Amino acid sequence: MSLRFAHKTVLVTGAGAGLGRTAALAFAAEGARVAVAGRTAASLDETAALIARAGGTAAVFIADVSRRPAVRALVADVVERFGSLDVAVNNAGVFRGGAPLVELSEDDWQTLISVNVTGVLHALQAEIAQMRTQAAGGAIVNIASNLGAHSRRPGLAAYAASKAAVSALTRGAALDHIRDGVRINAVSPGPLDTAMSLLPGEGEEGRAARMKEDLPLGRVLTTTEAAAAVLYLASDDAASVVGTDLVIDGGASA
Ligand SMILES: NC(=O)c1ccc[n+]([C@@H]2O[C@H](COP(=O)([O-])OP(=O)(O)OC[C@H]3O[C@@H](n4cnc5c(N)ncnc54)[C@H](OP(=O)(O)O)[C@@H]3O)[C@@H](O)[C@H]2O)c1
Repeated sequence: MSLRFAHKTVLVTGAGAGLGRTAALAFAAEGARVAVAGRTAASLDETAALIARAGGTAAVFIADVSRRPAVRALVADVVERFGSLDVAVNNAGVFRGGAPLVELSEDDWQTLISVNVTGVLHALQAEIAQMRTQAAGGAIVNIASNLGAHSRRPGLAAYAASKAAVSALTRGAALDHIRDGVRINAVSPGPLDTAMSLLPGEGEEGRAARMKEDLPLGRVLTTTEAAAAVLYLASDDAASVVGTDLVIDGGASA
């Protein structure tokens, strides 16, 4: 098995569930020391325990990405604990919406923007500030969505706007900081096998039937498939990939 991340410190936000947990486990399996970050200790502890059980190294850090001081403290704490920050995956995100835009509440809009957009901004700024001081620089992967810049569905305008902003932030930050030794890219997944892609009241069987009908691939995507793209972009295999927004969506935006 390849160990692309041996001796590297990897920070994953939103690592207590879904894609963040899968990516954290995958980085650890390839030799990384993984900082698992998020708001909820119990789910992060579970991720860290899964990594430890598989023989990997992980530590839990509590941080709400929408709070700038918390994110700065998070990066400082990770560096204090592990000595560097080599890779960061800005995965923490929320979904709000599902109804026509006129029905979106101000609260839901503010939540989408503060977590999905401002949270990624906070993380990028704190991570870049650290990585550009390191001789080896670093790599950052933001998790956007195919619904942002690539695919269109009704009822999702606000979430799509928040994720389009992640795609745009990724491109701009990549150009601003590649000469600082910080390589920045995004992954834009389609519907993943997590709770976020279930419609209200829908179970996994209902979702499977909907995907069979709606998605060219005919099935929901696995977090393992999306995590593979994250690890590729974070690795030296992608040393010349800068500012890319890699769409992993089963053909939804083909
Ligand atoms: N699932 C999909 O179909 C899909 C498709 C395209 C893109 N995405 C994107 O992929 C990413 C992961 O999605 P997922 O389906 O794995 O989601 P998930 O299962 O809901 O996990 C999201 C994680 O983010 C954490 N989080 C939420 N708000 C946070 C905050 N303010 N600060 C820190 N952590 C926070 C959550 O934990 P706590 O709430 O405990 O903090 C949770 O662990 C998200 O950015 C999502 O938008 C998902």
